[in-house]
Amino acid sequence: MDSCRKYKVCIVGLSGIGARPPLADGDRGMGALMPHTHIHAYHHLPETSVVGVCDLNEDLIAETNDHWSDIFPDLQGFTDYKRMIETCRPDLLSVVTSDHRHADIVVDAATNGVRGIFCEKPIATTLADADRMIEAVEEHKTVMSINHTRRWMPVYREVKALLEAGAIGDLKRITVNFGGPRAILFRNGTHMIDMICYLADAAPAWVFAELDEGYEDYWPYQGDGGRNPDLEPGCSGYVHFENGVRAYYNGSKGLTPRPGFELTGTSGWMFIHEKYAEIDQGNGIRTIIPEGLTHFDGAATIREIISVMENGGETISPPRTARHTLEIILGFLASQKHGNTRIDFPLDENTV
Ligand SMILES: NC(=O)c1ccc[n+]([C@@H]2O[C@H](COP(=O)([O-])OP(=O)(O)OC[C@H]3O[C@@H](n4cnc5c(N)ncnc54)[C@H](O)[C@@H]3O)[C@@H](O)[C@H]2O)c1
Repeated sequence: MDSCRKYKVCIVGLSGIGARPPLADGDRGMGALMPHTHIHAYHHLPETSVVGVCDLNEDLIAETNDHWSDIFPDLQGFTDYKRMIETCRPDLLSVVTSDHRHADIVVDAATNGVRGIFCEKPIATTLADADRMIEAVEEHKTVMSINHTRRWMPVYREVKALLEAGAIGDLKRITVNFGGPRAILFRNGTHMIDMICYLADAAPAWVFAELDEGYEDYWPYQGDGGRNPDLEPGCSGYVHFENGVRAYYNGSKGLTPRPGFELTGTSGWMFIHEKYAEIDQGNGIRTIIPEGLTHFDGAATIREIISVMENGGETISPPRTARHTLEIILGFLASQKHGNTRIDFPLDENTV
């Protein structure tokens, strides 16, 4: 292994954002603007080397090997992630399996010496799974980030800094609107709800919600990890946070709203578009254009995990925070089940 590539990496789950699709020849890099997948992100970090990849589908292993073995000459393929961890002893592990298949892998990795885990969102599909993941990483002091990508995007970071500096007074209301075919809770919805939590800066206290038309009797969660959006509902939901911030969530398949986050404070407002934001502090609208990448930047996430591994601290997207997003999603579903009523937290998924 190249001596500067001192962190050994393994990836479980090679479909989609794990290692596919291979980009055009010669473009294993920034693509449009960003490392496109987990493996692309590691390629951009000279301190990391991917030594093991794992999937149940052997074709994906062969394809990944064909495409990346010149960059990562020590790459080995596995169909059993436990054997991969035992054989490769990675420092870092990417978990890019389906939503309901993150938990066992994270628990086994933390228990078997992996120091840093970059796990796809949502953290899990049940609170019981999320809790055993949190317990394992905390017990073994494993650093873990959940890939709620917006937390690493400059525009959201800049807005957060402005909020903390009191640029619009005390934050009181957050509204997010988004649409399109993937505006379902366990797919794009996880990103938007996570961003609401990041901006609100408090734990959720209670929720109520109404699912999209046609999903009135949707209970319990029946999706396949967001793979087929037809199986899962969009939702209009309300979240009351412990610090009094109120959030309105509108993720509706089939509609095309003006997308973005509107933040209302005691002395002004901000509107976050995906690549820039606007602010009005009472003296006219000003545009905020952030510097740096504005897309998925897994490299930033991984760099942060390594920094916390070496220097201590906490990542910007730790598992306890990601659990809030899952609790809100399950709370929305529970509200629908109970006639769109208020659901108080903590949510007990065994009794809702
Ligand atoms: N951050 C983002 O913007 C973003 C974008 C797309 C997907 N995702 C997330 O990435 C994850 C994967 O999404 P997907 O649509 O590719 O899922 P998928 O279900 O299509 O694919 C998952 C892959 O993992 C493999 N797999 C499942 N269990 C395994 C196991 N125990 N061992 C080895 N391999 C296993 C499957 O064979 C499959 O190839 C999901 O959690 C999803 O929500 C995140």
